[in-house]
Amino acid sequence: MSALPGEPGQLPSAIELRPLRESDLDAVMAIELRAYPFPWTRGIFRDCLKAGYPSWALLEHGLLIGYGLISVAADEAHILNVCVAPERQGRGLGRQLLRALVQLAREHRAGRVFLEVRPSNPGAITLYHSEGFNEIGRRPRYYPSHDGREDALVMAIELVAGDIDRMPAL
Ligand SMILES: CC(C)(COP(=O)(O)OP(=O)(O)OC[C@H]1O[C@@H](n2cnc3c(N)ncnc32)[C@H](O)[C@@H]1OP(=O)(O)O)[C@@H](O)C(=O)NCCC(=O)NCCS
Repeated sequence: MSALPGEPGQLPSAIELRPLRESDLDAVMAIELRAYPFPWTRGIFRDCLKAGYPSWALLEHGLLIGYGLISVAADEAHILNVCVAPERQGRGLGRQLLRALVQLAREHRAGRVFLEVRPSNPGAITLYHSEGFNEIGRRPRYYPSHDGREDALVMAIELVAGDIDRMPAL
């Protein structure tokens, strides 16, 4: 287990992170089905875990209240899912989870992190912007929607500071 990164004392000590595991998937699906209009299936989560994608389970008093997964290929990471249980949203946990996922990407030596987001998800877009992600493009008709298909905004952040941190002192 590890405490969440960020400002010391910002979050209650009851909140912890650890890698997601297959035995979490009942709890994950219970949140996923409530949090998204077009949720992932259990099989998608299982395949991600089997493939060894880096992940975090967000726990409060030992109970799963959120999760996130990334993939990393070469020096590029992709945030595949980031989610906080609807009744736990709006308490700063999504921001901390996002920071922890970016940190995970950094630890896997990624230099850039990408994600896709629905234009109809302004809360998530505001969060990503405020954490330094920039809009770099659009994938037309990427998501299913109730009206047919919805575009994805593609956002990215460069992990330049991490590279500088790793540079030897002059
Ligand atoms: C997106 C998500 C992870 C954010 O988690 P959260 O715990 O609610 O977020 P936080 O409380 O940390 O809020 C962080 C920032 O996000 C923005 N934000 C979050 N919800 C918002 C809303 N409903 N409207 C506007 N801004 C919002 C704000 O900028 C907020 O910062 P502030 O509180 O300083 O104003 C969460 O809403 C979620 O799980 N949604 C369902 C799944 C999803 O859409 N995931 C993203 C897929 S791309």
